[in-house]
Amino acid sequence: MSLLIKNGRIITADADYVADIFIDGETIKAIGEDLPMKADKEIDAIGKFVFPGGIDPHVHLDMPFMGTFSSDNYETGTRAALFGGTTMVIDFVLQKQGNSLQAALDEWRSRSDNNCVSDYSFHMAVTDFNENTKKEIKGMVEKEGITSFKTFMAYKGALMIDDRQMVGLMEEVKQHGGLINVHATNGDMIDYLIGKHRSEGNLSPLYHYLSQPEVTEAEASERFSDMAYYTGCPGYIVHLTCEGALNAVRNATRRNQKVFVETCIQYLILDASLYEKNFDGAKWVMSPPLRQKKDQETLWAGINQGLVQVVATDHCPFKWEQKLMGKDDFSKIPNGHPAIENRMELLYSEGVHTGKFTLNKYVEVTCTNPAKIFGMFPRKGTIAPGSDADIVIFDPTEKHTLSAKTHHMNVDYSGYEGWEITGKVKTVLLRGKVAIEEGKCLLEKGYGKFIKRSKVDSKI
Ligand code: URP
Ligand code: ZN
Ligand code: ZN
Repeated sequence: MSLLIKNGRIITADADYVADIFIDGETIKAIGEDLPMKADKEIDAIGKFVFPGGIDPHVHLDMPFMGTFSSDNYETGTRAALFGGTTMVIDFVLQKQGNSLQAALDEWRSRSDNNCVSDYSFHMAVTDFNENTKKEIKGMVEKEGITSFKTFMAYKGALMIDDRQMVGLMEEVKQHGGLINVHATNGDMIDYLIGKHRSEGNLSPLYHYLSQPEVTEAEASERFSDMAYYTGCPGYIVHLTCEGALNAVRNATRRNQKVFVETCIQYLILDASLYEKNFDGAKWVMSPPLRQKKDQETLWAGINQGLVQVVATDHCPFKWEQKLMGKDDFSKIPNGHPAIENRMELLYSEGVHTGKFTLNKYVEVTCTNPAKIFGMFPRKGTIAPGSDADIVIFDPTEKHTLSAKTHHMNVDYSGYEGWEITGKVKTVLLRGKVAIEEGKCLLEKGYGKFIKRSKVDSKI
C-alpha cells in the first residue's frame, strides 16, 4: 500500500515547510515539492499541519495499583491515544518485590501483546534491587530492548527503593548504556503527613494535596540528581510539577550535569484549586498533586529554557466507582488521571495557539525528544525519508469541546470536561496505515508493535 500526502505544512523539531510525502509500506520514502509518484491513496493536506506521530513515554494501562486496575486496557488505551494523535506509548512494567524482572515482564506481556492498536514499549520498574535483579539488567537492555529503568522514591512497601538500591542500580544501568527514570518525591515524609492528616480526621481529597508539599518533590529531585551525578548514570525525572524541583535540576546544571525532565500536560494547565471541590477533587488525585499557578509559569518557562524536554501524560485512568474507594479517606483514592487522548490537542491549544511556545518546540517535546531520549530516533519522532510513517494531519483552526461523552478512553469522566480548545487531529497514520480518519479508528488491536529500543542518547 502506498500513500501520498499532498501540500501539507510539515513541522518537525527543526523545520517548517510545505511539501508532499510519499509513503510505501511502513516507511517514508520521499519528501519534496510536487512529487511525481502515483500512490494507492492520496490525502490532500492543504492548510493543515503535518506532525510526526506523538510519543507519550509515560502511561499506565491495565496496571494493578492501589487495590484495582487502571481502567484503560492496552486496546482501549492505545486506540484512544491514536484518536488524540499519539502513535506510540511507553508503559511501565512493575517488578513485584521478591520476584524477578523477567516474571514481571512476562506478566505484562500477557496483557499487552496482541492487544495494542498503537505501537508500544515498556520501561522496567525496579522495585527490589538485589544480586539477582542486578544480573537481569544487561538482558533487559540487550535482549528485550528495554533500556530505561523506573524507580520510585515513594509508595513504600510496594514500589519504593531506598538510596542504597538506587545507587547500586544506577551503577549497573550505566554500564549497559541505560537510563534511570524516577518518581522523585520523599516517600517517608509523605507517609508521615498522610498519617498525620488521617489521625486528625482530615480525609477529603484536599489532604492528598497537603500531604505532598512542594518540598517533598524538591528534596527528592535534588537527592536523585546527586546520586546520578555521583554514579554518572543518565537520569530522567518523570512528572516533575513544581518550581522547587525544577530548581534542583537547574542547580545540577551548574556542575555541568544534565538531568532529563518530563512534565505532564495537567501540571501545565490545571492547578490545586480543583482540590477544594470536595470529593469531586478525586478526579485530579494523582501523585505528585497539581500545584500552584507559579509552578505552571515555571514549567512553561522551563520548556522554553530547554530544562524540560518532554511533555507526557502519566495517563492512569480510574472510573468514578474506583475513585469512590476513597470517599471516606483520601489515601484510598486510586492515584491517576486520564489524558492519553487529550495531550496533543490540549498542548497545541494551550501552548502554540496561545503563543507560549513555537510549533517546533511543540513537536520537540511531544515527539522528537521522547524518541531521542528513549532510543527510537530517527525511526520514530520525526518526518524524514527512512522513518516510520507515523504521521498526524492536524487542523490548526478547528474548535471543539472536550467531554467524556465523546472521548474514547475507558473512563466515565474527563478531567477537562467542557474545555473549548483550538486545533484538532484529523488523520493519523501508523507505520503507513491509516489509523484514524473521519472520526473512526481503522486499525484493529494487534496492529500495534512492541518496539525494541536502543541505548539512550544523553546528548540531546
Ligand atoms: O498518580 C499517579 N501518578 N499514578 C500513577 C503512578 C505514578 O506514580 O506514576
Ligand atoms: Zn509516579
Ligand atoms: Zn506514572
